Amino acid sequence: MKSSVWIVDFGSQYTMLITRKFRELGFTSEIITVEEGLQRIKTTKPKALVLSGGPQSVFEDTTDYSSFFSDENLPVLGICYGMQIMGQFFQGKVEKGVQGEYGLAKLRTVPGFLIPGCPAESDVWMSHSDHVSVLPKDFKLIFQSENGLTAGIKHEYRPVLGLQFHPEVNHTVHGKEILSFFLNNIAGLKQDWSSRTMLETSLEEARAVKGKKVLCAFSGGVDSLVAATLCETVLKDDLYCFFVDNGLLRPQDYHTINLLQEKTNLNIEIIDAKEMFLKALHGQKDPEQKRKTIGKTFIEVFEKKVHEFEASHGIKFEYLLQGTLYPDVIESLSPHQKGGKSVTIKSHHNVGGLPERMHLKLLEPLRYLFKDEVRSMGMELGLQRDWVYRHPFPGPGIGVRVLGELSADSIRKVQESDQILFEELKEHKLYDSTWQAFTVLLPVKTVGVKGDGRAYEEVIALRMVNSQDGMTASVTELPWSFLNKVSSRICNEVKGITRVVYDITSKPPGTIEWE
Ligand code: XMP
Repeated sequence: MKSSVWIVDFGSQYTMLITRKFRELGFTSEIITVEEGLQRIKTTKPKALVLSGGPQSVFEDTTDYSSFFSDENLPVLGICYGMQIMGQFFQGKVEKGVQGEYGLAKLRTVPGFLIPGCPAESDVWMSHSDHVSVLPKDFKLIFQSENGLTAGIKHEYRPVLGLQFHPEVNHTVHGKEILSFFLNNIAGLKQDWSSRTMLETSLEEARAVKGKKVLCAFSGGVDSLVAATLCETVLKDDLYCFFVDNGLLRPQDYHTINLLQEKTNLNIEIIDAKEMFLKALHGQKDPEQKRKTIGKTFIEVFEKKVHEFEASHGIKFEYLLQGTLYPDVIESLSPHQKGGKSVTIKSHHNVGGLPERMHLKLLEPLRYLFKDEVRSMGMELGLQRDWVYRHPFPGPGIGVRVLGELSADSIRKVQESDQILFEELKEHKLYDSTWQAFTVLLPVKTVGVKGDGRAYEEVIALRMVNSQDGMTASVTELPWSFLNKVSSRICNEVKGITRVVYDITSKPPGTIEWE
């Protein structure tokens, strides 16, 4: 999103949260790379500049950042590494840390300096080793850490502020007040972000392709649902949603998709490809091979259906609508991601590869939004709350929740146990207290007693986690009474299951899905 508030990303894992917090305060901002920032500032004047944190040390970084500070009137906020660059430029001294400050720390406000809503002492999130040891010229000290280190500096007469801690992280209790102080009091900016702006910005994208034929690989999940509902208001009958039934869905997914067909204006066509998927997956045990097969089969089925549809209706699709969100966009921008050699843990399957293969242009109206903003937009568009607040469900579905080889019977076991878990979460009003909840079929047999007889049957694992973005996750603590009920119902009602276990592994080291 274009904005005249630039956030120069030095690679901190928290950079995106600065945009997030600015929006909560009613301001837009734009994350850009360091190279882009240095290039742009030669010709364009932003209204404010934020220099983010980053993993590097000023002792190894030889880049000349002076252009970020050459305009005396430009408001600049330096966070962590950003403050150290600032400290160096303004002739302070940055020292290598002997022992860094990581995690929660106490922040003390220097007497005489006041930020509205921010008390004299509060908790902040620190993550640094180097620190500013001698105040830069014309700066005053405004915050100190409990170790007596410089934690915040402000220029005496220029609109320049440096913070050693991370105000954008929730652990920094008064971070929002401090950011608001920068935006409102130091930079004197006017608010320019609201849910109305958000809707308008997204609608602009749809308006730009009005009159063209647009295709949507519809999953019924929050992102594709909100993207399609939004675009339908502009594109009407030119938007076609195709839903591929791979047979690896849960009963609740079928239920939702039928309701969406019935209750929304969306033109949703279900492609029954259950047999094809089962056939393609026959004999496959390896998780990566299964994921690849599901992804490949999806593309084959989808492409074939679209070509048939185009031929029979005499139309040609020009755009593919995708529910891509801002975190995905930023991830592909980040210098870490670009340069880093990250290993593939799992090949995620969505609709990757489709646009190039089918020569379609992309329509991504949600690409500036965070998940919770997408949800509130969904509500604003009049969608039902339980559609908009559904748990995430992976593209390969039950395919990665039956461990090892799939069969119609093993899929049934997961479908039935998942339905029980879903019903009980709703019944106990616990659905919203976990980010994701599902069952996994373990391909091991254990001995049990059913009635008076010996049972030798398979095991279902329950997986319930809380997370913000799926990158890390912690196990959801749920009441024993609820777990007991779920376990007892699964053993009694799902044929072939005698034992239920609860997975208590966080991510890392476990991933959320088992395969
Ligand atoms: P993992 O298992 O990688 O999962 O810890 C993180 C989150 O991503 C979901 N997931 C997927 N989502 N396509 C998707 O759209 C996939 O192939 C896929 N694999 C995992 C998972 O359910 C969790 O929310």
